[in-house]
This record gives sequence, structure tokens and C-alpha cells, in this order.
Amino acid sequence: MNEGEDWIYTETVKDHFLHPRNFLMGDESKFDYDAVGQVGNPVCGDQMRMYIKVKDGKISDIAWKTYGCASAIASTSALSELAKGKTLDAALEISAKDIDDYLGNLPKHKFHCSILGHDALKEAVKNYRKALK
Ligand code: FES
Repeated sequence: MNEGEDWIYTETVKDHFLHPRNFLMGDESKFDYDAVGQVGNPVCGDQMRMYIKVKDGKISDIAWKTYGCASAIASTSALSELAKGKTLDAALEISAKDIDDYLGNLPKHKFHCSILGHDALKEAVKNYRKALK
């Protein structure tokens, strides 16, 4: 690897960071959701909240907000696009590699940031299923 090579963000990563999809602006009352999941990364302190709307077993709408880094924002933007319209189980199967492929590769040392949104999604699905019982 050449010096500095791993510091480059792809155009897709930059686009999702600068124009995050499904980002929840303002307070959560603006989004009609069925469940929410919140997680934090104990290492860096970043926080993520994921809101899901479920219809016929599928994620019909999704929104999120974060105190997160650029990679977490781009990754969660990509995740939200990948998860929308999927069944809950299919959305849970979206992997960090799927997100990385969608974005055209995150710098390796930022790969862990792609997990934050996914963990928040897992929490949201868990809370949704718990509320059904
Ligand atoms: S540095 Fe914390 S999620 Fe990226």
C-alpha cells in the first residue's frame, strides 16, 4: 500500500456523507415509526439511533440520526437504502461487507464504523418484535 492510499474516500462515500439518505432532520416526532434502536460505540463514543416503519413484515420506511463520524454517516446512509423494502430478516442479513461493497470500499481503519448503523437496526428490529409479544 502506498503511503496515504488508505485515507481516500470514494466518490460514493463522499456523496453519502454529504447527502445522507433517510437522515432524520429535526426531532423524531416528524417520522412515523414503529420501533427504534439505539447503540453506541464504546471505543469512540459515537451514537446511532435507527427508526423503522414496518408493513407486511417489510421495512416500509427507515430513518436514522447519529452523533457519528463521516464513515458511520455514509455507511448508515447506504444501509438505510439497502434495508428499505426488505423483510426484517433480510435486512438483518445485510453485512458490513455488503455496505462496504455498496460504497466502493471504506478505508480499512474505518470499516468498524459501518457496524454502528447495523447494530442500531438490529436493536430496532428486536424492539419491534418484543413489542409484538
Ligand atoms: S469513529 Fe466512531 S463510528 Fe466511526
